[in-house]
Amino acid sequence: MERTLTIIKPDAVAAGHIGDIIKIFEANQLTIKAARLVSLTKKEAEGFYAVHRGKGFFESLTTFMSSGPALAMVLEGDDAIARLRKLMGATNPANAEEGTIRKLHAQDIEHNAVHGSDAPETAAFEIAYFFPGVELA
Ligand code: CMP
Repeated sequence: MERTLTIIKPDAVAAGHIGDIIKIFEANQLTIKAARLVSLTKKEAEGFYAVHRGKGFFESLTTFMSSGPALAMVLEGDDAIARLRKLMGATNPANAEEGTIRKLHAQDIEHNAVHGSDAPETAAFEIAYFFPGVELA
């Protein structure tokens, strides 16, 4: 069993896709262990994406991620990190496979509906970022 952090981003929350996306997680044996609807401040978004500081899209990405409510969740399952990323599809929806969450719901490389941790160390950091000291269900 492995845990990963996902965020249903402000674009997908605003468009009413929370239910659709959770349905995909549940249909693929990714169990929700914690969930929190967050309205990130710009500073919180910058802290979460600190690894991207200095990149051309950092300013725009953190402005977008603090533009409205987002749903942060801890998911658990076998090989959860890799399987979630496969279900999400490529970062740029133009390159995402049919049936993936980003192919279904993302608008562009920035407004791309969902986030998923990319490695065990990242997952540990990201879970602690949104759920510090929380005992997971
Ligand atoms: P995410 O999986 O949340 O990880 C970092 C995010 O940065 C990524 O999804 C995209 O939303 C965004 N991103 C990555 N590359 C670019 C890019 N070239 N232009 C704009 N946004 C990007």
